[in-house]
Amino acid sequence: MKLTIVGTGLAGLVAGAGLAELGNEVLCVDPDQTRIARLQRGDLPLLEPGLAELMARHVACGRLRFSTDLREGVGFGAVQVIAVETPADKQGAIDMQQMLVAAYRIGLYMNDYKLVVDKSTGPVGSADAVRAAISAGLAERGVDLGFDVVSNPCFAPEGTALQDFLNPARIVVGADAARAVELMQALYAPLRRTRERLVLMDIRSAKLSKYAASAMLAARLSVMNEIAGLAGKLGADIEQVRRGLADDPRIGAQHLAAGCGWGGEGLPKDLTALQQMAQWVGEPLPLLGAVTRANERQKLLLVEHVVERFGEDLQGRHFALWGLAHQPGSSELREAPSRVVIHELLRRGATLCAHDPQALAEARRVFNGVPGIGFAATPLDAAIDADALLLLTDWNDYLAPDFDALQAALRRPMIFDGRNLYVPEQMRGLGFDYISIGRPAQWAAEAVDSVHIDLPLAA
Ligand SMILES: NC(=O)c1ccc[n+]([C@@H]2O[C@H](COP(=O)([O-])OP(=O)(O)OC[C@H]3O[C@@H](n4cnc5c(N)ncnc54)[C@H](O)[C@@H]3O)[C@@H](O)[C@H]2O)c1
Repeated sequence: MKLTIVGTGLAGLVAGAGLAELGNEVLCVDPDQTRIARLQRGDLPLLEPGLAELMARHVACGRLRFSTDLREGVGFGAVQVIAVETPADKQGAIDMQQMLVAAYRIGLYMNDYKLVVDKSTGPVGSADAVRAAISAGLAERGVDLGFDVVSNPCFAPEGTALQDFLNPARIVVGADAARAVELMQALYAPLRRTRERLVLMDIRSAKLSKYAASAMLAARLSVMNEIAGLAGKLGADIEQVRRGLADDPRIGAQHLAAGCGWGGEGLPKDLTALQQMAQWVGEPLPLLGAVTRANERQKLLLVEHVVERFGEDLQGRHFALWGLAHQPGSSELREAPSRVVIHELLRRGATLCAHDPQALAEARRVFNGVPGIGFAATPLDAAIDADALLLLTDWNDYLAPDFDALQAALRRPMIFDGRNLYVPEQMRGLGFDYISIGRPAQWAAEAVDSVHIDLPLAA
């Protein structure tokens, strides 16, 4: 099949390379000339394991091409996949402008039937807006041509997006026309050889499925964070609790790690968008509101531990930060817990030195001109002369550091671990003052002894 991908962000490039891998001819279009020039040079402007190699292979055999010519893009593909950004505005409302412009242009330039696959994350009802924008483009020319719109949301975040595309747990397709369903079935046929993966539904339900998945994942994380707070106080260990849950088939192992908060481009935006949709129809979502508020508190947890140890005034204190990205495999700093931690520590007068294996360039851009924060090329360099180390992202790079060298670099051997990377007993054995999430800390042990049991005494 000939396909056009509209938008060359992560979602578009993963779909483009993935659909080329499934045997299609793919043209990726984007008005951003710099981006397209880089892609044409084989220079991938984002991180995604395996994507650069897959793209290089399909570019070399001519199955994958890039262009800034949106008219050429509309002419090329019988299937037009829209994967443009749908950012949240300051109030959290989803801005559909880029998506609607892309749809309008399809109407403006198309000369035969098009199947328009809406891959961007937009509110329930946005496929109707896409349809209306295509019709407006057609009306502008005074022509009437057939088209269908389907919803085919992306569920996987960066880091696992390509792997998920090529080996999906399921492919959600929202469609309301037989021709569209047939085309989507043909498109994904190679992925259905071993088992049926297509989950067909109506368009609104497909749109809501994406938001429901985000809500469920965010809720799991916030529940585990809340239980971790309790575990730490009761002398239980959240990591052991996690193992006690992970094999329960009703629960499953993913998204159970307690930590210093969740962030990124996807979950926070999707939860805010759900609240917006709820307002439209007057259906409050108190539980999901609490999930988000609990996460905002969680992002402050490590700072609270630092303040407990060093006091409110952090003038003259210097801290090392390991990890700035909201999750490993990402260079994304949007809504990352690190931003809250950095803001709160700087506000109290501390100075900081941060390391991240992938997000340093983005961090330098975000914190450009902010006094008090510097960046280091290696984790050990970041730790030099720090009063303590704060660990904020569970990159593999931090799993097994040289603890002797780390201790020598730090001014005092203290670690606030927001991702529970190390074993508390081992860390204490190595001489570290080690504070993690939801695991009883040495210094809190005395608070744990008060267990009240009323024994019913039989007469
Ligand atoms: N990135 C992810 O991991 C992920 C996961 C799930 C869902 N999504 C959703 O997928 C959508 C795209 O996300 P992304 O991260 O790939 O976006 P992005 O912002 O990284 O890239 C979007 C690209 O679209 C281009 N664009 C804008 N208007 C255009 C137009 N009219 N024609 C052609 N190109 C145009 C922009 O120049 C930009 O390069 C969003 O709705 C997002 O919420 C993304």
